[in-house]
Amino acid sequence: MRILVTGGSGFIGSHIVEHHLTKGDEVCAVDDLSTGSLDNIASFQTKSNFRFEQADILTWPGLDKAVKWADRIYHMAAVVGVFRVLSEPIRVLDTNVNGYRRVLEAVANSTHKPWVVVASSSSVYGHNKLKILEEENDLIYKSPTHPLGNYAISKLTDELLSLAYVKEKQLFITTARIFNTVGRRQTGLYGMVVPRFVQQACRNEPITIFGDGKQTRSFCDVRDTVRALATLAENKETSGEIINVGNDREISINDLAHMVRKIANSESEICYQTYEESYEENFIDIKNRYPDLTKFYHYTNFKNKWTLEDTVADLVAHYTEK
Ligand SMILES: NC(=O)c1ccc[n+]([C@@H]2O[C@H](COP(=O)([O-])OP(=O)(O)OC[C@H]3O[C@@H](n4cnc5c(N)ncnc54)[C@H](O)[C@@H]3O)[C@@H](O)[C@H]2O)c1
Repeated sequence: MRILVTGGSGFIGSHIVEHHLTKGDEVCAVDDLSTGSLDNIASFQTKSNFRFEQADILTWPGLDKAVKWADRIYHMAAVVGVFRVLSEPIRVLDTNVNGYRRVLEAVANSTHKPWVVVASSSSVYGHNKLKILEEENDLIYKSPTHPLGNYAISKLTDELLSLAYVKEKQLFITTARIFNTVGRRQTGLYGMVVPRFVQQACRNEPITIFGDGKQTRSFCDVRDTVRALATLAENKETSGEIINVGNDREISINDLAHMVRKIANSESEICYQTYEESYEENFIDIKNRYPDLTKFYHYTNFKNKWTLEDTVADLVAHYTEK
């Protein structure tokens, strides 16, 4: 099979590349290297079934040709991470919405129609306070002056684009609402909590929790996320559907900090920073993020292979090695 991965040198994208190269597929990755890195794909560069194009998805001249070539496209390119979302709001809207629209137009204009898997996000649920989030829930947003709204709404717009192109242009698109994903190659530079805690613990520096640490998240190992996306794409009934993808084990950020410290055998103290100190004024965090995976299991017989403890232990070993 021929696979095109946009954002292919990023965290999840590079694992998608690895997954398909391991299966013997031909893979083309495109990335502007804004948050992705060549290190993430360095070990694939010598493989004859892999090629990489450094380009901006908004202007990449090779897009039409790559779309004609591909059997499946994973659209992962996006501006991601709280720090980047706060500092580059125009880029967020432009890349996340217009970048995806450009990919869809290229597919719509091609006689050959590759299957599209697009990364939406659990951020789409906004400030919905329900304990378990399912796809049919109402979405609750703060006023547009709330700093993180642009990312959530850019991802919601992507979902609407998916539905519109399935309906009007008869494209085949699986839209995955991905919950927090963790694993190797995720950088802590843009506000991601797990790599930051692991790094702090391994250096015996204070582990800094933003807020009171009572907020909860559900973390899925990236190797499971990637298998989940590939499994969904294989089920043709998922076209036109929006499906939660993640792990349904919930953990508070306080418990995560203690888990990381224990697994890293670290002497780090655990300390707290207000959201104002960590991000900016008026920042309102999301309290809980816990996916209902009923719909996901309806379409797959999927089983997660990795627990959060496995992932943290792997990250600690990897960081210590480095
Ligand atoms: N990691 C998570 O927990 C998570 C959760 C929900 C959704 N997602 C979504 O999954 C996708 C991948 O996220 P990630 O965590 O791997 O982040 P990432 O930042 O590592 O990956 C995004 C990649 O897109 C590239 N990119 C950005 N703008 C581009 C442009 N204009 N042209 C070409 N490439 C561009 C970046 O360089 C990067 O390599 C994103 O769409 C993100 O919104 C991730």
